[in-house]
Amino acid sequence: MKKFSVVIAGGGSTYTPGIVMMLLDNLDRFPIKTLKLYDNDAERQNELGEALDILLKEKEPSIEFSYTTDPEEAFTGMDFCFAHIRVGKYEMREQDEKIPLKHGVIGQETCGPGGIAYGMRSIGPMIEMIDLMEKYAPDCWMLNYSNPAAIIAEACRVLRPDARVLNICDMPVGTLRRMSQIVDKEPKDLEVRYFGLNHFGWWTSVKDKDGHEYLPQIRDYVAENGYLTQIEVDTQHMDPSWQETHKKAKDLLAVDPRFLPNTYLKYYFYPDYEVRQADANYTRANEVMDGREKSVFSTARDIIERGTAEGSNFSIGSHATFIVDLARAIAFNTHERMLMIVENNGAIANFDDNAMVEVPCIIGSDGPEVLSQGNIPEFERALMYQQVTVEKLAVEAYIEGSYQKFWQALTLSKTVPSAEVAKNLLDDLIEANQKYWPQFN
Ligand code: NAD
Ligand code: LMR
Repeated sequence: MKKFSVVIAGGGSTYTPGIVMMLLDNLDRFPIKTLKLYDNDAERQNELGEALDILLKEKEPSIEFSYTTDPEEAFTGMDFCFAHIRVGKYEMREQDEKIPLKHGVIGQETCGPGGIAYGMRSIGPMIEMIDLMEKYAPDCWMLNYSNPAAIIAEACRVLRPDARVLNICDMPVGTLRRMSQIVDKEPKDLEVRYFGLNHFGWWTSVKDKDGHEYLPQIRDYVAENGYLTQIEVDTQHMDPSWQETHKKAKDLLAVDPRFLPNTYLKYYFYPDYEVRQADANYTRANEVMDGREKSVFSTARDIIERGTAEGSNFSIGSHATFIVDLARAIAFNTHERMLMIVENNGAIANFDDNAMVEVPCIIGSDGPEVLSQGNIPEFERALMYQQVTVEKLAVEAYIEGSYQKFWQALTLSKTVPSAEVAKNLLDDLIEANQKYWPQFN
């Protein structure tokens, strides 16, 4: 089997060790020749790079491993770029969450004003990275799971429509794992139908390979427990705030019991409740900094100090095997069925062709082919149209440097109560993002 060369962009990410462990776990399916880390923060990446170098020399010395901040070195000769960058890092995530809360509005990484703010920071660097990839590795595919995925995907559609970039999210994968546990199946046994936008969608069918429909059974469970399951199902969505989120799916289902909701809909259906529940002084950014970030970097330091990874391995990002499934689909034309963020082009029959939607696709060596999901009901269609217009306005605002469109995007967001609040929020966000955003006039 061919051996592949992979660069992980955002090498200093808290997810990097989990992804590397996952790659090691999947070498029989996806052999690796070269593995590189690329980041623009040398110090952050060096700690993980040094620790992973020790670990890889012990576990799989045949892999050529290196880490760099030089894009030419990073991309040359690569087949795949796994991209998980966070522009502005946790320091700015904290602002994205805390500034809206000060105005009584949802403070979240990808939903509402925080997501738009993060999007405005991310569009430029993502496009720059795509250009660097095309310059140094014209045949390379970027599998992007950097957030905010909806806005990045829309920016790619508009600014780099022909680039080899595939946008994908792990949330539906994580929730499907929970569903599979509810019905006592393996996730791979289940095939879904789904429609929506990123972090804004619904499952309309969950069947096994024999065609048995599990949606009613899952619905009964979710109506009582949300997606909360007893056994640890994923390594990522386990913190207390996530347990609350899985539980809240129960109230999302109640709004339209026909379909199984994506958990992120809670920010749009219950914003007042979510704001009341939030601690404006201690948000998800703080939870991650005190939890995942501390634990990943202290494991790295421990490995470096002891000079060995024996006895202190990083945990495997097991849910992240979807990234290998996607890379394999491209590399071996496997026709894997996966949810992807793609241009609609008729997949949802009664929705705009040029909207970036999240739907099941068949992935082969030319990329995704969308699977038709038919017509969707007016309730969901109207919600999606409002949200996709927010995302489109945000990207237009970025390209044109338009304060007006930025204000409109915030005003239109279902999470923001009025144009007045939107304007006050925007002015605070501009102040906080001076280092990252273009000028808005
Ligand atoms: P993190 O802050 O730990 O790591 C991000 C890294 O990106 C940092 O080391 C930073 O220096 C680097 N970076 C920032 N801008 C860069 C640039 N222009 N070029 C190269 N490197 C750059 O963040 P994290 O919590 O590990 O998350 C990483 C990303 O993955 C986030 O965008 C997060 O939202 C996303 N994520 C997505 C999914 C998904 O499935 N869609 C799941 C989990 C995490
Ligand atoms: C993260 O892992 O930080 C985010 O992508 C999602 C979350 O857990 O808040």
